[in-house]
Amino acid sequence: MREPYDDPPRLPGQGEVHLDAFVPGPGALELEIGPGRGAFLLGRAAVAPEARLLGIEVRRKWACVVDERLRRAGFGARARVVWEDARTALGRLRPEACVARAYLHFPDPWWKKRHHKRRLLDRPLCDALCRLLDDAGELFVQTDVEERALAYEELFAAHPALAPAGDAPGSARLSSNPFGAASNRERRCLESGLPVYRLLVRRHPRAATTPP
Ligand SMILES: C[S@@+](CC[C@H](N)C(=O)[O-])C[C@H]1O[C@@H](n2cnc3c(N)ncnc32)[C@H](O)[C@@H]1O
Repeated sequence: MREPYDDPPRLPGQGEVHLDAFVPGPGALELEIGPGRGAFLLGRAAVAPEARLLGIEVRRKWACVVDERLRRAGFGARARVVWEDARTALGRLRPEACVARAYLHFPDPWWKKRHHKRRLLDRPLCDALCRLLDDAGELFVQTDVEERALAYEELFAAHPALAPAGDAPGSARLSSNPFGAASNRERRCLESGLPVYRLLVRRHPRAATTPP
């Protein structure tokens, strides 16, 4: 008997994956790390009809459910979710500099010190995303934990390939989400009146960071 979700969507093979083959089309490529129940991806696919979208979700059930929802909504040719751990999957993606924007909505729901080791958005993940982001590519992060927002700001400020691109010069903070779609957790926060801390950073053009 088939188990539920026993044919999960995966990246093909074991090695390099060329995104233009996996999510074909002419549109700009956007990545979401940890889409969970997928409200953002579904909404984003609707408001950005040119965009190609790839979600990387470590929970098998949600990768299966959301990939199927995208397919049923008619977005399957340009919007996919794969069941993978982003910490290893990003390193398999090719070519370098092919992603226009990456999203991480509420990636680290824990705030206690002992949970710091579990943090998904850390320097190695930033490095992996910076390899994929094109020149002037963007990274958008949201959290409802203020301490996390401060830690992410420090992480980005220390990264040589990233510059703040928020509302005010020199700041990564954004007062609202400009991307026309909300994640499930973002919706819950907004409905409950909880604060959402938003950060936008932009990749430096490669020529500016590569020595001659
Ligand atoms: C707090 S939930 C937020 C879900 C969704 N982004 C939202 O805002 O509603 C964090 C999500 O990140 C996923 N996640 C955690 N670690 C991950 C990893 N290493 N690779 C891919 N997804 C991961 C979790 O399974 C979960 O779906």
